[in-house]
Amino acid sequence: MTDKTILVTGGAGHVGSHLIELLVANPKNRVISLDNYFNGSRDNHIPGAEYREGHTKNIAALVPESVDIIYHLGEYARIASSFEDVDKVYDMNMIGTFAVVEYCRTRKVDKLVYAGSSTKFAIEGNGRHQSPYAFTKANNVDLINDYGAWYGVPYAICYFYNGFGPREVSEGKYATVIARFAHSRMSKISRAASRWSASTVGATATRSATRRAIRCWRSPRRSADRSASWMDPLGVRNRGTT
Ligand SMILES: NC(=O)c1ccc[n+]([C@@H]2O[C@H](COP(=O)([O-])OP(=O)(O)OC[C@H]3O[C@@H](n4cnc5c(N)ncnc54)[C@H](O)[C@@H]3O)[C@@H](O)[C@H]2O)c1
Repeated sequence: MTDKTILVTGGAGHVGSHLIELLVANPKNRVISLDNYFNGSRDNHIPGAEYREGHTKNIAALVPESVDIIYHLGEYARIASSFEDVDKVYDMNMIGTFAVVEYCRTRKVDKLVYAGSSTKFAIEGNGRHQSPYAFTKANNVDLINDYGAWYGVPYAICYFYNGFGPREVSEGKYATVIARFAHSRMSKISRAASRWSASTVGATATRSATRRAIRCWRSPRRSADRSASWMDPLGVRNRGTT
């Protein structure tokens, strides 16, 4: 019997797939992923979860069930390429997230947990203007905060700082720095060593970040912008972070 229906947007991506792994471990959870496979992969599917393909802007049609909790991770999640992909960033992050918060408001979802970005804290808090990606992530935090104030939508913002590890995109335009490094062709030994350290340390780091996200919705009080307590799961404070 299912106690909770949990929707993870971006569930076929890097952090989302690790989060789903933890959520399906509880047999009382029904876990649904909504992903447009822009950067997600079917190789990241976790047995026990249900996968739906689509953009978050169509969430109402694609997820007609009554949902208890939404972990909203499904957004365009790269800094450097966001300059040339500004139209995609706007569509996936602004239009998509507006639909997600409206879904939460109209369907009275118990809790929305949003994957915020640390980019906005850079340059003495001016980081939100440093890239299209940072701009949309910071604006979505504002939007969710305001929906909490205007409509009482329960939410938590969880900031990830440089999450890395298995299931990251390692090749092509959207490869992440550490995954690219781990797969680089330097030398056979350094390639093997970097791959080992990225996967071993990264698996721990990603699990740590996703456990924090889960604790976010278990918290009885609504948590707005709890950057100080949620930041830095890796012990890294890096201005180049996503
Ligand atoms: N990894 C980090 O260090 C980090 C740091 C700060 C914030 N975040 C945030 O965490 C979330 C997950 O990041 P990640 O590293 O797993 O990135 P990722 O690119 O691996 O995962 C994002 C997933 O969302 C999907 N997606 C994108 N836009 C979508 C849309 N409009 N509708 C449905 N699916 C969509 C992609 O296909 C992908 O599977 C993102 O919101 C990102 O901004 C990540």
